[in-house]
Amino acid sequence: MATVALKDVMKVFADGTVAVDRVNLDVGQGEFMVLLGPSGCGKSTLLRMVAGLEDPTSGAVIMDGELANDLPPRERGVAMVFQDFALYPHMTVGENIGFPLRLSGVDAEPRAEQVAEVASALGIGDVLARKPGQLSGGQRQRVAMGRAIVRRPKLFLMDEPLSNLDSGLRAELRAEISGLVRELGVTTIYVTHDQAEALTMADRVAILRKGVLQDVGTPTQVYGRPATLYVAAFLGSPRMNLLEAEVYVHLDRHIALHMGDQVLHLPWNDLRSRQVAHFHGERIVIGVRAEALTPVPDTTSGDVLRGRIRYLEHHGHESLAFLDIGATAVIVDEIGNPPTDVPINGGGLRRFVSRLTGRGGSGSAELVGAGVNGRGPRRAKESVLSDPGRHHRRPAELAVRLAPYPAVTHGHPLSVAVRMEALHFFDERGQRIDVGWR
Ligand SMILES: Nc1ncnc2c1ncn2[C@@H]1O[C@H](COP(=O)(O)OP(=O)(O)OP(=O)(O)O)[C@@H](O)[C@H]1O
Ligand SMILES: [Mg+2]
Repeated sequence: MATVALKDVMKVFADGTVAVDRVNLDVGQGEFMVLLGPSGCGKSTLLRMVAGLEDPTSGAVIMDGELANDLPPRERGVAMVFQDFALYPHMTVGENIGFPLRLSGVDAEPRAEQVAEVASALGIGDVLARKPGQLSGGQRQRVAMGRAIVRRPKLFLMDEPLSNLDSGLRAELRAEISGLVRELGVTTIYVTHDQAEALTMADRVAILRKGVLQDVGTPTQVYGRPATLYVAAFLGSPRMNLLEAEVYVHLDRHIALHMGDQVLHLPWNDLRSRQVAHFHGERIVIGVRAEALTPVPDTTSGDVLRGRIRYLEHHGHESLAFLDIGATAVIVDEIGNPPTDVPINGGGLRRFVSRLTGRGGSGSAELVGAGVNGRGPRRAKESVLSDPGRHHRRPAELAVRLAPYPAVTHGHPLSVAVRMEALHFFDERGQRIDVGWR
């Protein structure tokens, strides 16, 4: 059993690549922590530093409360499972699983006992005499798991162990692995780029982007209150609708959120209204998941978005409608879209700098002073989290859930009521506006 703490861990490779950028992360006793992020974000590098296969450029890797930076891999009590789980082809399954025990001098008889126990726990007890070449992909991955488990490590490190398998098998092994490591109570750090895998398996998820930790929390926390626009866009299927909105504060009534011709109203009794009010006259990003949208009759008033169905996707258990609502969508980089240089709000950086320095002002600042809490200077450390201009825009296609095979089809008008309390608000730099309330 083990705990791991990373303190300001940084990895800069010889060619100048910053693979991991000042990451702070605590993994508790017996916890199943998933590192999630797209290709190249530094997941494997981080894992390899915990394993001792890579030295941090700076920062501390602390294991069981002790600085472990100089501890050789074999003294860390870790077992690692990789994506390309190389098994010894000339050895049987039993010999493969028992190999780490043989290396550490365990006698044949107790070795065979432990191997049999692990193999039966993994459901491969009947193939112990076979060679890896005579196994299916799923069986081979179970053997690799068995070889890692048999030594009873203090810490499991798994680097995309399922990504070479087909989706059915992946789902099956996903459940098996999380069941098994919890039964064993072994602290686990599991790397994946698959958000479904992360949300279903993890006790907590740590989301990385370009080496920078974006958010850490239980699946419910990171899904329900993503810390950044990036996390919001990364988690969930269909993806969260991210819409550009202009904020207008009506002190006597509500805050109006304009998206093209459409308006939503945030009432003052919504606790987030005070933070959103600081953005009077500015553009922000509104995040709304499909589950916060309900089709309603066209005559419904209130917080309703209206549009036409551009296309439908049938998924068997439900259909997804994509509505043209005349609003602008914000696209976040590295989530399957090519980057562009169009910032969502050209004035954002300037305003940010003027707030930071206390110089310069805007109409909104006066209004803020008139009725709402002052925002105060932003913490300077926020500026490292995201670059302005990382997002670009296109006409929004609002994803809405419908019953399977609905009566409507493309071209039909559709109105959807918005559950206002389920909205997410982000500033132009991609930071959550109502932070700190989780
Ligand atoms: N030895 C190295 N020298 C220079 N750059 C490296 C080295 N190893 C990795 N990198 C770079 O560091 C960054 C992080 O790589 P890493 O392998 O940790 O990403 P990853 O999140 O595991 O990606 P994937 O999902 O594709 O496995 C990448 O930009 C990669 O090109
Ligand atoms: Mg990797």
